[in-house]
Amino acid sequence: MGFYVTTPIFYVNDVPHIGHAYNIVAADALARWHRMRGEDTWMLTGTDEHGQKILRTATANDSTPEDWTDRLVETAWKPNLEVLNVANDDFIRTTEPRHRDGVQKFLQRLYDSGYIYYGEFEAEYCVGCEEYKTSTDLVPGQGEYEGQQVCSIHSRPTETVKEANYFFKLSEFQDRLLELYDSRPEYVQPASVRNELRSFIAAGLNDLSISRSTFDWGIKVPWDEKHVVYVWFDALLNYITAIGYGEDDESFERRWPGNHIVGKDIARFHAVIWPAMQMAAGIEISERVYGHGWLLVGGEKMSKSKATGI
Ligand code: ME8
Ligand code: MG
Repeated sequence: MGFYVTTPIFYVNDVPHIGHAYNIVAADALARWHRMRGEDTWMLTGTDEHGQKILRTATANDSTPEDWTDRLVETAWKPNLEVLNVANDDFIRTTEPRHRDGVQKFLQRLYDSGYIYYGEFEAEYCVGCEEYKTSTDLVPGQGEYEGQQVCSIHSRPTETVKEANYFFKLSEFQDRLLELYDSRPEYVQPASVRNELRSFIAAGLNDLSISRSTFDWGIKVPWDEKHVVYVWFDALLNYITAIGYGEDDESFERRWPGNHIVGKDIARFHAVIWPAMQMAAGIEISERVYGHGWLLVGGEKMSKSKATGI
């Protein structure tokens, strides 16, 4: 029996807070329990280092993204695991060559199988979430943003992205995703998160923009180096690049599929986009996605972006 558990990989725009600790300690406790039962257990955690959020934070602090991420990882995120006495088996950084190579292999595979196309588009984007937003994800702004629509998590207006870039045919997977939810009720937990995501899928899926060409802090699209891979597409792949996807088949077979413990804010990425990516690449679907609640400050999610971290 094997058991593979992951935490999200954390954005290193700032130091960790107890909301991250909550997630990491939960994964560690679960891993320890499986290890005690004699199972072949593996716990992965790490850091998410590409994209506009990190690039902008580094620039705002008169740093480069390379220096900024190295400093935060070495002085804050790795030491945090020592403080919490976490027995993780691996720590992955998305700036490592093993990750970059795996992402490029995965992407090329999807491109060669016809799941990726080039197109023009315009959409609203929240850099705090690194996510494209639809009108149902937005709420009326308060204070300085009165009269505007803002991200419901970051309370700031979105930015309009108008670019030509590469798309993943997410819309093709609607039926197979619903089938997955219905045939494996334990796949997403708890039921509140499962129900919300099932309704989201049932309402219809749009294809997903998976590259950007207006900045270059990211992994290059292998067949078109003017583009970098969308940070979430890059980040989700850490769960397989860390265990040898495309590089060490024996290790990959031994560990995969994994169990993901994530905050409910990012359950959609893990239980809608990620399984569609897995289907497209022909790898096994994750064993489980658990979407936990938030530690709150003043009734809102404790957050690095809002500087409410404890
Ligand atoms: O979302 N309470 O990274 P992130 C409980 N890089 N948990 C919390 C929390 C809170 N107040 N705040 C954060 C990202 N978390 C992406 C993930 S994974 C392929 C990429 C936890 O640093 C929660 O699990 O913004 C959240 O989803 C995670 O930290 C990552 O936060
Ligand atoms: Mg966040």
